[in-house]
Amino acid sequence: MCGIIGYIGKEDAVPIIIDGLKKLEYRGYDSAGIAIYGQNGFDVVKQKGRLAALEERLSSRQLENNPLSGHLGIGHTRWATHGEPSDINSHPHVGSRNKIAVVHNGIIENYRQLKERLEYSVQNSEGVTFASQTDSEVIAQLAEHYYCMDNVNAGDLIDTVIRVSNAVEGSYALGIMCIDEPDVLIAVKKDNPLIIGVSDSGNFIASDVPAVLKYTKEVYYLNDKEIAVIRSGSVQFFNMDKEPLHKTTETVTWSMDSAEKGGYPHFMLKEIMEQPKVLRDTIQSVLGEGANKNVFDNICVSRFKKIAIAACGSAYNAGVTAKYVFEKLCRLSVETDLASEFRYKDPIIDNKTLVILVSQSGETADTIAAMREAKSKGAATLSIVNVLGSTIAKEADYCLFTAAGPEIAVATTKAFSAQLVLLYMLAIRFAHKLGLLTEYDEQELFVEIAALPYKVSAILEQTDAIQKYASTCVGYKSIFFIGRNIDYAIALEGSLKLKEISYIHSEAYAGGELKHGTISLVEENTLVVTISNCASLFGKIMSNAQQVISRGAKVLLIGNCSEIDDDTETEKLYYISLPHVSDIFSPSLSVVVLQLFSYYVAANKGLDIDKPRNLAKSVTVE
Ligand code: G6P
Repeated sequence: MCGIIGYIGKEDAVPIIIDGLKKLEYRGYDSAGIAIYGQNGFDVVKQKGRLAALEERLSSRQLENNPLSGHLGIGHTRWATHGEPSDINSHPHVGSRNKIAVVHNGIIENYRQLKERLEYSVQNSEGVTFASQTDSEVIAQLAEHYYCMDNVNAGDLIDTVIRVSNAVEGSYALGIMCIDEPDVLIAVKKDNPLIIGVSDSGNFIASDVPAVLKYTKEVYYLNDKEIAVIRSGSVQFFNMDKEPLHKTTETVTWSMDSAEKGGYPHFMLKEIMEQPKVLRDTIQSVLGEGANKNVFDNICVSRFKKIAIAACGSAYNAGVTAKYVFEKLCRLSVETDLASEFRYKDPIIDNKTLVILVSQSGETADTIAAMREAKSKGAATLSIVNVLGSTIAKEADYCLFTAAGPEIAVATTKAFSAQLVLLYMLAIRFAHKLGLLTEYDEQELFVEIAALPYKVSAILEQTDAIQKYASTCVGYKSIFFIGRNIDYAIALEGSLKLKEISYIHSEAYAGGELKHGTISLVEENTLVVTISNCASLFGKIMSNAQQVISRGAKVLLIGNCSEIDDDTETEKLYYISLPHVSDIFSPSLSVVVLQLFSYYVAANKGLDIDKPRNLAKSVTVE
């Protein structure tokens, strides 16, 4: 989704904003723009396409001896919702009177009504003509209307921002500059993330921490409907009644290296390789001291009759996987829903339900809505989140943090693995609290969990076979994934990963479902990735594999199958073996092979792996 960066300070804002936009590229975008408060007022450059195209425009300006430069500016990467990707629809938007410049992330739901009202006044010679098709331009025009036209409080920027916030419906994170205030940058948000970074050489606004990490680790997390008035050496906060607020900075623990590729060709590969450390850190966050351990110790599971898990994308797949573990260990009924369905289905939950929200970003609009729906029905909410200070982290009753560090590639890998391991550990602790596991059993399972990072390392040390096999798979139009029980759950993630980054059509099925339709799609040389870690179901899944092989398919078998020997492998069946682990934890190993498989298929196709077409890292609108 859109990315916002703004700067006010002693340095030239242009390189800082461009660098920040690069750090926000992972969010997904199709155009970009920058507005600087220059010597002659607002100086705006907007460009459809990648940031490189915007940079080219800036270089031409330099060659023409007309460089963009100034100490205050805002920048934006746009992921089109209202209006096609184009130069004119890109942000920043400046009002027709050239008084207010705005960058916006979110959706203004009542923009049509507001636009009509503002346009209507044209006939009275006071109205405005809109330049773009976007909902966002309404904010710039409306702000100017309040700032310039009304008698009461006209010319007061904070009043203007309050009036705009009260008039618009929907979600927004805004960076605002005013022509009359060359020393002020304004930030305000509702249901979309915005942070404020502070440093000796200037202050920043940004959609996410990686955009400012190079300059500072001290940040304020802005809450909904809080206004920040940012100057070079100060930040003041106000509520919507214009009363001053006191906020304190938090120190980010993420390192600057984590937002750099560090020699890898793609962030995705770097993040896959980081998984042993991420798993270790996440496991330690529960076994050592700290916030996660406190949640594990304090949550009273006996009051819950049911667990519901709501999430989107890969986080949902982590939930589906965890359902098998919770049900097996805790004998509690677990429902797993896509957050976008959960929020509208009138879920059957009450104060005896624990609703678990899983989200890397903590800002996914549907997951936020699912959490609020759960709270409104009296359910307890527990979130598993990677981003400190995010909406879901702040609003859930309990929050567990995945120690994945910033994840930049759009397709999640390390955050997913961290979610899985926290969910396993939660299931183990719940089972112990419910009297279904002795302390000794609990410790034994934690010991097995603690060994997972080493087993993942072993897989990552031998990627050649996966890489070689993947290089033969670029030509497929469709690839299917099958598994049974928990292997089916992780097959869902394998399939999602492949389609996200390789653009190969893919679906995952439970092995037992194959004969209920899917097998009709199997023909000569279809590839069926088959996952087999559940020893008791080995015979069943292998017979599924045989059924597709006899119809001409090829099988890539991934798992820990002691029954497989050299004779089993044929031209039609290729086997990648995994280290031994209990069935319920095997997804943590299978997924690493599935991630690498997808990565190498996409790499062999020469695709833009970190920023797949049309996708966004953090889906902050419905
Ligand atoms: C997008 C990302 C996925 C992610 C999903 C949910 O689709 O590309 O990788 O799983 O959003 O995001 P969240 O931040 O809530 O985990």
